Amino acid sequence: MTLTAEITGWGKCMPPNVLSNHDLEQIVDTSDEWITTRTGIKERRISHVEASELAAVACHRALAAAGKTPEDVDLLLVATCSGDSIIPSTASVVQKHLQAWNAAAMDLNAACSGFVYGLEVGTNMIKSGAYKTVLVVGTEKLHHLIDFTDRTTCVLFGDGAGAVVLEPTEGPAGVLASDLGMDGSVGHILEVPVDGTAGDRGPIDPRLSGISMEGQEVFRRAVTKMGESSALALEKAGLSLEDVDLLIPHQANIRIIDATARRLGVDESKVYVNIHSYGNTSAATIPVALTEALEEGRIQPGDIVVFTAFGGGLTWASSVVRWGDRVTPLGESDVELPPPDRDTMELLQPNFDFFGRPEKQA
Ligand code: ACO
Repeated sequence: MTLTAEITGWGKCMPPNVLSNHDLEQIVDTSDEWITTRTGIKERRISHVEASELAAVACHRALAAAGKTPEDVDLLLVATCSGDSIIPSTASVVQKHLQAWNAAAMDLNAACSGFVYGLEVGTNMIKSGAYKTVLVVGTEKLHHLIDFTDRTTCVLFGDGAGAVVLEPTEGPAGVLASDLGMDGSVGHILEVPVDGTAGDRGPIDPRLSGISMEGQEVFRRAVTKMGESSALALEKAGLSLEDVDLLIPHQANIRIIDATARRLGVDESKVYVNIHSYGNTSAATIPVALTEALEEGRIQPGDIVVFTAFGGGLTWASSVVRWGDRVTPLGESDVELPPPDRDTMELLQPNFDFFGRPEKQA
């Protein structure tokens, strides 16, 4: 038996304000039919709070599910590419919300692959013997980066958070193997062009501060890399595709998910999909999907669960987990978000003011 990490708690926090495809029809030249057939997305959430608050609620829920308290946490890893601030890190703010004063805490930016990167970092910190209770949370307030004058990106993304608790185990359950990668030579095909120290300081076109993407190129690379990376992680775990009970892919586009599953030869009944409800929440999609898969009874004790993701960087990451004995939470948290004081369209007004008014709002 070798020391590894087991997922003992899970939780999500989805902000209540909904932006449906029909709402988007009132903003840009698009249609429910186009968005549904090209992406699988029907609606997404728009957050009235920062990514740190979404993360804190998801963490409270994951801790309750594991029967742990914030004081038990000795490491907090916050995967995000739309966090509250660079200094202090979003992890610093999450620690404050949680009052997890015993936790070392840091941000981790691998875009949509961030949660799986975090799972691998957290697992190895546990394997080192130095940490015993690790929180890994993927959290995003992506709508902040969305230019609603660009119909090719504004329909894709949403906000939300999902978290897991990792604890040491000597098996047979736990994180068995992972595969992480990056191709920085093509980082520019999915970017926020003016951001960080590399951007100009003078007056800039606000539109360069939003997500810009070569959609078809990202699509093609996502299918290839998620397939290759899942197969590699399974091989490292000494398992084969026939052993997979549930594949939980990053939720970016239903056609990417279907093509990846086809490429791997995994039947669609073994693929978890919730993209219709939330769109692409980047680092949050996998822990949110994991939480919902458990809530829906899609994971049984001993199941082999594979996570696979692809995103900005360009990054990719896969992880193979043998699930433990417990598929239900030990407890529930009563921590909630504050109620929103504005409706969805009001929450989008700052985007319209900054990036420019979308054609149907002009
Ligand atoms: N509504 C209506 N029409 C649209 C829209 C829209 N929202 N967006 C684009 N179109 C039009 C285009 O203008 C084009 O029209 P034209 O033929 O007259 O020029 C037509 O639809 C087809 O456009 P394509 O770009 O070829 O559409 P495609 O089928 O490739 O779908 C999409 C676009 C959905 C963006 C797809 O390429 C995709 O999902 N790519 C991957 C995106 C992704 O996963 N990104 C996130 C990565 S994760 C991260 O790290 C943040």
